Amino acid sequence: MDIRSPKGVNQGVAPVTYGTGSRPPRGDYGRARSDYTCAQDFAQYSEADHQTYRRLYERQLQQLPGLACEEFITAVQQLGAPDRIPHFDAISERLMKATGWQIVGVPGLIPEEAFFALLAERRFPVTDWIRTPEEFDYVVEPDVFHDLFGHVPLLFNPVFADYMQAYGAGGLKASRLDACELLARLYWYTVEFGLIHTPQGLRAYGAGILSSAGELRYSVTSSEPQRVAFDLQRLMRSRYRIDTFQASYFVIESFQQLFEATAPDFTPVYREVRERIGREGEIEAGIVLPGERTYAAG
Ligand code: PHE
Ligand code: FE
Repeated sequence: MDIRSPKGVNQGVAPVTYGTGSRPPRGDYGRARSDYTCAQDFAQYSEADHQTYRRLYERQLQQLPGLACEEFITAVQQLGAPDRIPHFDAISERLMKATGWQIVGVPGLIPEEAFFALLAERRFPVTDWIRTPEEFDYVVEPDVFHDLFGHVPLLFNPVFADYMQAYGAGGLKASRLDACELLARLYWYTVEFGLIHTPQGLRAYGAGILSSAGELRYSVTSSEPQRVAFDLQRLMRSRYRIDTFQASYFVIESFQQLFEATAPDFTPVYREVRERIGREGEIEAGIVLPGERTYAAG
């Protein structure tokens, strides 16, 4: 999943989402329950759909060594055989044993409050449809490949699993504080586009990178983007791009660091970040501020 918007329970209509303009989400929200989850519609998959999944999976798998973090590489096999779109229930069974998480089907992007509520219950929403062959290289909305391949392997990591639950609970609070836009930046720059510094070099852990054919190599090895050391308040002041490769990434040293940096109550953090944005403005993607620690490619 990526970024979703307004509030409320499912009434059979598609939610509005940030930054997607007038095009409605493609899922059929009529088949979702009030919490926006739905049974995985396995009968919808054609042989061509399974083949799309297999081709996407193979293309990403061979790129992982040296680019994806070890936690991701060891867990990716938990998705099961790569030749067909997996049954969500089979993955949930393994995930439940590992970290107490489950995955649940959804028709597509869901409103942010519904999304936060699911995460807070350790249920990760996975879109059940797959992109068309024409969208093989780029799909605007998250599909089953992005959601499963990108997000689910790290849910097998205990620290990251706890971080995701804390994010959900934090999201419910951010909704009450009208701070979702600031919190969404944290999701974007960690869960979707995060990099981690390891003894072997920089590696990707963000789902948006790991499920992307081009951005995986670019994010780790290109000299073009900036890679800034993770700093919560700095990150919350930073804008991001949704339609091209990122101009900036934030780099963590460990999942434990990420978990601990985000554990304190964000109520004063939101206030301080707002004040600072009021005085100094937001930070554009691709900018490095004086004195900031950055990481070289690789
Ligand atoms: N500590 C955050 C808060 O009080 C919750 C949170 C944890 C948010 C982890 C995001 C990630 O709002
Ligand atoms: Fe996502």
